[in-house]
Amino acid sequence: MPNQPPNEVIKISQLTKDFKISESKPGFMGSIRGLFSWETRNKRALDGISMEIKKGDFVGYVGENGAGKSTTIKILTGILVPTSGEVTVNGLVPYENRIENAKKIGVVFGQRTQLWWDLPVGESFDLLKAIYEIPHKDYEANLAYLGEILALKDLLSVPVRKLSLGQRMRCDIVAALLHEPEIVFLDEPTIGLDLIAKDQVRKFLKKINAEKRTTIFLTTHDMGDIDYLCERIVILDEGKIIFDGLRDELKKLYGRTRVVEVEFQEENPGIRFDNGLQVIREENRKKWISFDRKDHKASEVLTSIINSAPVKDIYLHEAGVAEIVKTIYEKVS
Ligand SMILES: Nc1ncnc2c1ncn2[C@@H]1O[C@H](COP(=O)(O)OP(=O)(O)OP(=O)(O)O)[C@@H](O)[C@H]1O
Ligand SMILES: [Mg+2]
Repeated sequence: MPNQPPNEVIKISQLTKDFKISESKPGFMGSIRGLFSWETRNKRALDGISMEIKKGDFVGYVGENGAGKSTTIKILTGILVPTSGEVTVNGLVPYENRIENAKKIGVVFGQRTQLWWDLPVGESFDLLKAIYEIPHKDYEANLAYLGEILALKDLLSVPVRKLSLGQRMRCDIVAALLHEPEIVFLDEPTIGLDLIAKDQVRKFLKKINAEKRTTIFLTTHDMGDIDYLCERIVILDEGKIIFDGLRDELKKLYGRTRVVEVEFQEENPGIRFDNGLQVIREENRKKWISFDRKDHKASEVLTSIINSAPVKDIYLHEAGVAEIVKTIYEKVS
């Protein structure tokens, strides 16, 4: 159908980002003090990721430090240009249409405020109103709606630099939403917040996602955020997506399960698992085998694996909610 808006508000296909890093190395003349040769090295921060996000999705984007989460957000918001691959946000290529894209998205970088440090919060908001050309009526209504849920009334006259971290984060979130963006990118919005402030931010995000169908793309190291908020979880590891699915699927798949990590002595030991034992990851000689603790005794599972092929090393993991993700991360170590 012509001019039909695409169902996917974000489309990422085979996205790669390399950073050039300059390093000083003692060179040929390295023994002479002060003489170094500079070498540039490539760091592949994103390694061919693909995903599609639909309107109203609440996606938790998780991964260890350096996995590539912020790099992805910077590409989706037009701050960085990818090395290869394709990206569209609301049908636009973000780094080619930075300003147009900015009008339809909201961004919060938890580590850094987007507000004017010396201005009272209310004046920062007024500036945003002008920048985004928000009609006066909409601005008033949005500020009332957002300010009410995040209890901002008493903060509007306070300069940003005098706000506590939790207060500043609430203001930053409101600032990112004043122009009613269809998609919001939040990079660690609960970092450093106490439990009460965290709870406020979580409830708020849940509410706007439910009431306004705002699409939310969130990175966090807090598995509590994920558990409370994100229906869909994408796990990134060293620039690659290693899981993309529903939170409930993740839990069903790993939650009641235990995971045995085995390193066999040979590659492809050629064993088959049945009776509900499932190989969930494989890497060289290692296999991660999950089983339901209701159906199997750990001792029996371990014995049957050890008897099936020569084993070099074997561990048993408990899988709780946070551990599920951790277990998946740990496959690399
Ligand atoms: N401007 C840059 N120049 C060089 N390397 C960079 C640059 N930005 C990011 N990197 C590298 O790219 C990789 C991914 O970084 P990124 O900031 O996306 O990770 P992250 O998943 O957000 O991590 P964290 O959880 O610590 O915020 C890291 O190895 C990082 O050092
Ligand atoms: Mg980051």
